[in-house]
Amino acid sequence: MDRPLIETKNLCKYFKTHRGMLHAVEDVNMKIFEGKTLGVVGESGCGKSTLGRTVLRLHQATSGEVLFEGENILKYSRQQMNRIHRNMQMIFQDPYSSLDPRMSIRALITEPLTVLSGKEKESSKEMDDRVSRIMEMCGLPRHYSNLYPHELDGGMRQRVGLARAMILDPKFIVCDEPVSALDVSIQAQILNLLMDLQDRHGLSYMFITHDLAVVKHISDEIMVMYMGQVVEYAPSAELFRNHVHPYTRALLNSIPTIDLSRRNRERVTITGEVSSPINPAPGCRFAPRCPFATEECKQKHELKEISPGHFASCTKGVN
Ligand SMILES: Nc1ncnc2c1ncn2[C@@H]1O[C@H](COP(=O)(O)OP(=O)(O)OP(=O)(O)O)[C@@H](O)[C@H]1O
Ligand SMILES: [Mg+2]
Repeated sequence: MDRPLIETKNLCKYFKTHRGMLHAVEDVNMKIFEGKTLGVVGESGCGKSTLGRTVLRLHQATSGEVLFEGENILKYSRQQMNRIHRNMQMIFQDPYSSLDPRMSIRALITEPLTVLSGKEKESSKEMDDRVSRIMEMCGLPRHYSNLYPHELDGGMRQRVGLARAMILDPKFIVCDEPVSALDVSIQAQILNLLMDLQDRHGLSYMFITHDLAVVKHISDEIMVMYMGQVVEYAPSAELFRNHVHPYTRALLNSIPTIDLSRRNRERVTITGEVSSPINPAPGCRFAPRCPFATEECKQKHELKEISPGHFASCTKGVN
């Protein structure tokens, strides 16, 4: 299939704040094909979650388009949106906060269905079978259905979060840092489960993370964001082998010590003043921190295809 499952065109999301317009997502163009994963990386606050939420219409876009199977869903009415809503799901870093502690695992897994149909919980044989199938698919032992979220560890709770998405039989899942809160050994289990589900169901993922090691493993393509802007976008292997944007190079050269979470932000070996995403100047937002920046960088930011499928807004300093 040569049509992407999901695509954005010049997608922007700005937030009105008391200090001005915060440009959280600026002019993002991306494509995700059926059965593929786009990794979205960048440090805390660069707009990853906002992008994911805007694609799913959990935020209202400021401008641009989101195409799902070729149709601009930003123009969809509520009824049209309801019709395709189940195709597009999201899982989060901390499923605990989105799981009602008073509901059993079974009730939590069936909840998205009852919310969608508007009907009260069915307790049919059919539903029982479906829940069992989904639990098995997500690696949840059958007897867990009568347990409550606090009785599960983080990995199992993430499996419940995934089961809640999978029960709707989606085509596309935004995975927003789904393993960031987990121990490394558990991370690998969840990543393997995600890849296994993808293989079996042809799922497409937008996989958001600040952890480059994770994104390398799971992504077909990788998009690097800096303060709302996409600075580089390439097939995964190409990005790791031949990254060109000064920001991407700073990120990748600092591997493996780099950790872009808020807590460890200072470890990134980038110096200089950080600009602000509020009423930003035109041009590249990395320019104030970039050793190669020229006057031109402050005027213009534009992705160019530097080799087939490899886009970057800058190649300065590459020899
Ligand atoms: N509802 C909101 N209102 C105003 N500003 C917001 C809102 N949500 C996010 N922002 C701002 O938009 C920018 C992008 O935030 P976002 O949460 O998308 O970043 P992120 O890359 O997901 O970061 P993290 O890695 O910490 O999750 C930040 O400057 C943030 O403060
Ligand atoms: Mg986020």
